[in-house]
Amino acid sequence: MQIEVESREPAASEVELLALPLVAVHRERWKLPPRLAPLARALGGRIEAAVASGEFKGKSGETLLLHGDPAARVRRVLLVGLGAESGLDAEALRRAAGSTIGAAQARRASRVALVAPPLRGPSPTAQAEALAEGAILAAYRFDRYRTRRDDPPAEVASVTLLFERAKDLRALRKAAAIGVVLGESQNLARDLSNEPANALPPVALAQAAQKMARACGLGCRVFDVPELERRGMGGLLGVGQGSANPPRLVVIEHNAPAKARRGSSSRRTTRPTVCLVGKGITFDSGGISIKPAAAMHEMKHDMSGAAAVVGALRAAALLEIPLHVVGVIAAAENLPSATAYRPGDVLKTASGQTVEILNTDAEGRIVLSDALHFARTEYAPEAIVDLATLTGACVVALGKWCSGLFSNDERLASRLARAADESGERVWRMPVWDEHRDAIRGQIADLKNTGGRDGGAITAAAFLSCFIEKIPWAHLDIAGTAYVDKPGPYQPRGATGVGVRLLAAWLRAYRGRA
Ligand code: BES
Ligand code: MN
Ligand code: ZN
Repeated sequence: MQIEVESREPAASEVELLALPLVAVHRERWKLPPRLAPLARALGGRIEAAVASGEFKGKSGETLLLHGDPAARVRRVLLVGLGAESGLDAEALRRAAGSTIGAAQARRASRVALVAPPLRGPSPTAQAEALAEGAILAAYRFDRYRTRRDDPPAEVASVTLLFERAKDLRALRKAAAIGVVLGESQNLARDLSNEPANALPPVALAQAAQKMARACGLGCRVFDVPELERRGMGGLLGVGQGSANPPRLVVIEHNAPAKARRGSSSRRTTRPTVCLVGKGITFDSGGISIKPAAAMHEMKHDMSGAAAVVGALRAAALLEIPLHVVGVIAAAENLPSATAYRPGDVLKTASGQTVEILNTDAEGRIVLSDALHFARTEYAPEAIVDLATLTGACVVALGKWCSGLFSNDERLASRLARAADESGERVWRMPVWDEHRDAIRGQIADLKNTGGRDGGAITAAAFLSCFIEKIPWAHLDIAGTAYVDKPGPYQPRGATGVGVRLLAAWLRAYRGRA
C-alpha cells in the first residue's frame, strides 16, 4: 500500500473514497470546520444533516458513508468518528485510519484520501505518522496459506493524507514515512508470530532474523547446537532437546561498534548499548508436563517476544536510532519425546546457576536465563529489556488489555511507561520483591523453575532477575497482548506485533543514563 501526503483541497480530490475524521461533539454545538466548507458545499449539506440528525455522532470506531451527486468530483465521503476531543491522541488517529481502511476494503475502494483534521492535540507531523501507521497496520492480512477463495479480499492501493498547509509538506512526508516504517515493522513481527510452527522452527526463525538483518544492513550471528554447548547454555539446550528441530541463539546488532584497528588508538565510537531479549519458543506444547488440547494451537505464538525483537531491530535500523541496539533471541521448540527434558531434571545454565525442573511447561524463563546472561556478560549494556509470552498468570492478573512490566530500575520503568503512553501499547507495573525470589529458591539446585500458583507472573519475573545482577532491566510479559481473537480497528485476529511500537518509542526517546 502506498502512502502519500498532499495539501490538496479535499473537495478537489478525485479518489474513490474520501475519509473525513470528525471529533465527537454534541450536535447542537457542532460547527463545520471552516476548512471543510467547500467539501460540505460539494456534498450539498449532507455532512451537516448527518450530524444535525444525530445519525453520526463522531464516536470512536463509528463510520457513516455519504454519497455526493453523481456529477460531483467527490462521489463518496466516509465520516469517521475520532471520539471525544479531550482524549484525542495518536491512538485515536491510528484507529481512525484503521476504520477508514476497513470501510474502504468493504466498499472495494482502492484509492483513498484521508483528510487530516485541524486538531488540538497531536502536532501535524504526529498526525501524519499515526495516520500512516494506522493505515499500514489495518491493511495487514495473514492469508498466505489461503489457496482458494470465492471472495478475494479487496486491497487498498493508495492512501493520500490531505493536510492544509503546503509549506509543511516535507516534514509531513518524512513523518508519514516514519509511520510506514513502524507499521511495516509491526507487520513483520505479526507475520513471524502468525506463521505456523511447522513452517517456523527455531532454524527458520533464525533465518528470518538473518533475512531482515541483511535487508537492513544489520549484523547477525546464529549459534548452533555445538556453539551453544561451548557456551554452556544448558537451559536453552535442555528445553530444546525434546524436539527434532534444534534450538538456536540469534544475535542481531544495529550500530555495532567498529572493531578497533591495530595501531590506531583504540577509540571506538561510543554509542550507548541497549539489549532487547526475546523469548522464541516456536511451539510450546508444555513438554512432558503437557498442556491441555483446547488452546494449544495458540502456542505457535510463543515466539512473539522474539518477533517483537526482530521488528524493533528493523525499526531501529530504518529510523537510524543513534544507539548500539542488540537483539538476542532464544529459539527452541518445547515438545515431549524420548529425548525431552523431564520434571526433576537439573539443568546447568550459562551463568553457572543450576535449575531444578518442576514443570517442563515453565520453559520460557529457562531459555531466557541463558539469553539474559549472554546479553549481560557479552555487552554490559546500559539497559536490558526482555519480552516474553511468559505466563498465563499475567493474563489472569491483567487481562488482555496491557502487558505486565517488571523492573529493577525506576528510571527505566518510568521511561517504558512513558513509551507505552505514547505508543498506545499499554503496560502495568508489577512488583518483584525478595519474597518472590525466595519462592523460586531450590532445594536440590540453586533455583527451581516454578514458584507455585500464587503470583505466578511475578515469581517468573523473579526467576529472570536472578540472571541480571545490577544492570537496569525490564521484563515485559506479553502473554495477554501478543495475539487477539477480537479484532480491532487496525488489528485483525491473530498476532498483534506488540512490543515493536513500544520499543521504538522508548528507543527514539532514549537519553542514556542521565
Ligand atoms: N507460553 C506459556 C505462557 C502463556 C500462556 C502464553 C497463555 C500465552 C498464553 C508459558 O510457557 C507457560 O506455559 N507458563 C506456565 C508456567 C507454569 C507452568 C508455572 C503457565 O503460565 O501456566
Ligand atoms: Mn510453557
Ligand atoms: Zn511458553
